[in-house]
Amino acid sequence: MNRKFSCIQPNRYLAGFHFRLAIALAAGCLAMFLLRAHGSPDAAVILTPQPGSTPRLNGPLVYGCRPGNPFLYRIPCTGLRPLIFSASDLPKTLSLDASTGIITGTAPPKGDYEVTFAAKNSRGAATRKFKLVAGQALALTPAMGWNSWYVYFNRVRAADLRAAADAMVASGLADAGYQYVNVDDCWMNAERATKYMPDPHRVGPLRDAQGNIQPNCYFPDMKGLADYIHAKGLKAGLYTSPGPRTCTGSGGAYQHEAQDAQQFAEWGFDFLKYDWCSYGNLAGTNKNLETYQKPYRLMGELLQRQNRDIVFNLCQYGMGNVWEWGAAVGGHCWRTAGDLGFELDRIFPVALMNATHGAWSRPGSWNDPDYLQIGWIGAQRGTNFLEPHPCPLTPDEQYAYMSLWCLMAAPLFFSGDMHHLDELTLSVLCNPEVIDVDQDPLGRSATVVRLTPATFLMVKELADGSKAVGLCNQGKMPAHISVHWNAINVTGQQCVRDLWRQKDLGTFTGEFVSEVPQHGVMLVRLHSP
Ligand code: GLA
Repeated sequence: MNRKFSCIQPNRYLAGFHFRLAIALAAGCLAMFLLRAHGSPDAAVILTPQPGSTPRLNGPLVYGCRPGNPFLYRIPCTGLRPLIFSASDLPKTLSLDASTGIITGTAPPKGDYEVTFAAKNSRGAATRKFKLVAGQALALTPAMGWNSWYVYFNRVRAADLRAAADAMVASGLADAGYQYVNVDDCWMNAERATKYMPDPHRVGPLRDAQGNIQPNCYFPDMKGLADYIHAKGLKAGLYTSPGPRTCTGSGGAYQHEAQDAQQFAEWGFDFLKYDWCSYGNLAGTNKNLETYQKPYRLMGELLQRQNRDIVFNLCQYGMGNVWEWGAAVGGHCWRTAGDLGFELDRIFPVALMNATHGAWSRPGSWNDPDYLQIGWIGAQRGTNFLEPHPCPLTPDEQYAYMSLWCLMAAPLFFSGDMHHLDELTLSVLCNPEVIDVDQDPLGRSATVVRLTPATFLMVKELADGSKAVGLCNQGKMPAHISVHWNAINVTGQQCVRDLWRQKDLGTFTGEFVSEVPQHGVMLVRLHSP
């Protein structure tokens, strides 16, 4: 009995041990799966230091506006509220609200104005230079904001835009420099219900008897919407197509371009995305450069005639090498490819493709590799667009995404759910030193230095003579990545700063080496001591 018992016990123990081990492994796997599936934050992945209580002024160092047009700018600043703002050498046509930091008025006569912003609170004070360039150029740094597409698709309502504007301020996104609140497709009536537009309430006449475009019932007051966004110091954007229909079959601008441009300006919109969609059917099969340029040139000229600064976003997926002529037809940024869609495993290849057009990146002229889909985003099953859920990217992949976009001076449009801005999402979106790389006034895109099939460097020249370098690992294993000075064209001693952690790493000679996680980017800034 005893022997039997003693025989059985170890087996039972072992069986129990294996069972517990199996449970522990399964739990570990599940936790890793959930972490991956949900990109859940933990203490180790919050790289961006919390903003301090003393004021820190953020935002672009250079800003374009057109003389005589309405002016609106909210000074981005973190720090304990209440803050008191002031500005020296602000043109007389502008006035600053000292408690909100919102500047309004009329853009001054042509010229450069060297303004200095200041902010103070009970903990301290800060200043930051701001060069206002009154002329024809807009978007002297890449536009930053939020777009409705990858979270609301064909469900978007004006109420979502208002809530996004509220959240942009409440979450601190606006204090980091995010400014535009943009509705994508589906704000206007559609001609008929389709698989892409199943909601019958979105169907109705596309235009009234006078030819005015008809918003659908979820957008009852377009001017009221723009006013609401403006009251927060933010800017409003909208979308249409040069074709008769947008990509979801809603009303486009074809043959009503002048009327629509005027209407958008009268409503008070500050940004237009112009999406090729059904224009392709009009353009026929023998397309040439003129075919691609014509509708954008027309709208570009119309927008410039409005008494309003409207940033013009070309969305035609890179056809006819749009980066070569987008600025000449009045564009400020252009998609370089088709939709990034939900294939977020393509971020590295998309970035490498987009970077090949880097030579065309300059102030007022930006390559756009599509939106930032982090945090909670939508999804698509067949023709159904699903409710938002946590994005499938790991934290390393999300930091890599933002690093690559900033190195390429891409427009920074978050297209996730503004109701689910968790700590990780804000850490990825709101690091001012990382954003400064994107917003650098020189306007260069990074060039790529290939190291191995899995690793490469992205090297970006910055206005102060320093360089931002991304140590990029698109492989499936962690990698040691070396930055040799001759590969990035620097010499002697270099101070290296880790931009995500906002930490100086020391002074290095000849090279800097770091381990970079799989699907990760380490982002550093190098300058001479
Ligand atoms: C195209 C664009 C997307 C989005 C949709 C809307 O696919 O590339 O960014 O605007 O249309 O229908």
